Amino acid sequence: MKIIETVGEVQADARERTSRSVLVPTMGALHRGHLELVRVAREHAGKDGEVAVSIFVNPLQFEPGSDFEKYPRPESVDENVCRDAGVNLLFRPNDMYFDDRSVYVEETALSAGLCGAARPGHFRGVCTVVAKLFNLLAPDAAVFGEKDHQQLAIIRRMVRDLNFPIEIIGVPTVREADGLALSSRNQYLNADERAQATVLYRAMTRVKELADGGQKSVGELIDVAKGVIASAKSARVDYISIVDADNLQPLGVLQPNAVIALAVFVGKTRLIDNLRLW
Ligand code: PAJ
Repeated sequence: MKIIETVGEVQADARERTSRSVLVPTMGALHRGHLELVRVAREHAGKDGEVAVSIFVNPLQFEPGSDFEKYPRPESVDENVCRDAGVNLLFRPNDMYFDDRSVYVEETALSAGLCGAARPGHFRGVCTVVAKLFNLLAPDAAVFGEKDHQQLAIIRRMVRDLNFPIEIIGVPTVREADGLALSSRNQYLNADERAQATVLYRAMTRVKELADGGQKSVGELIDVAKGVIASAKSARVDYISIVDADNLQPLGVLQPNAVIALAVFVGKTRLIDNLRLW
């Protein structure tokens, strides 16, 4: 496995490459969700192709006062995980931004609601860093998780609108046995909070059952979800929305392409999840 830590070297490496390359962008603290992305990347790259993983805790996407400082950075563990997973290139840059940077990539429609409303500047940070990674590594394809549904929709829009010649591949959410979506932030939870964190999945699956049973009122479905979340004493709703999966517009009545998306604080930890309803 090749390890590259500077933008200059990774650009030179990409220029010399002749094989197909599939990129998995991450912020590290790698878990089974990330590894599923790597597995799908390998499928798309082929055995002679290159699977590249980037690990960069991107300061631009952390709003002031959030967890940038304490975000886990288990560097040598992550390195071994990548090696064991058959990754060909690990890019963990230490020179991504200029101190006087003044150019950003901003998506202006899909970013307005959900996590974009709750975390101002977050998706500008995500788009800027992903655009830079795309320019630096020039992959043929890149893999993202559906766990971050809004992020995936925004990246697809960025690639479309800015004509990146890169295929975007979405991967279904990997969950623990009790339904909790794997996340690097789950390690912030203590044992009691970890037990309560299943409330996100329980709320979404309850709503899905009612939707499958014919309940079409989005207002009622959201009230049911709020009720389930309220049953966990350390849980506090940040947002719960039922939106169109592609344009992320809130729905009043359930219709095809509906997805429920939510962000919930469990203790101090903010968890997000989503589930397709139709
Ligand atoms: P990070 O949170 O490390 O996630 C990296 C990728 O793994 C994202 O595409 C995310 O959706 C996916 N992922 C995380 N948990 C998952 C799960 N349980 N199942 C399936 N996929 C999962 O998302 C980011 O980093 C950053 O915003 C990034 C895109 C790297 C830009 O900085």
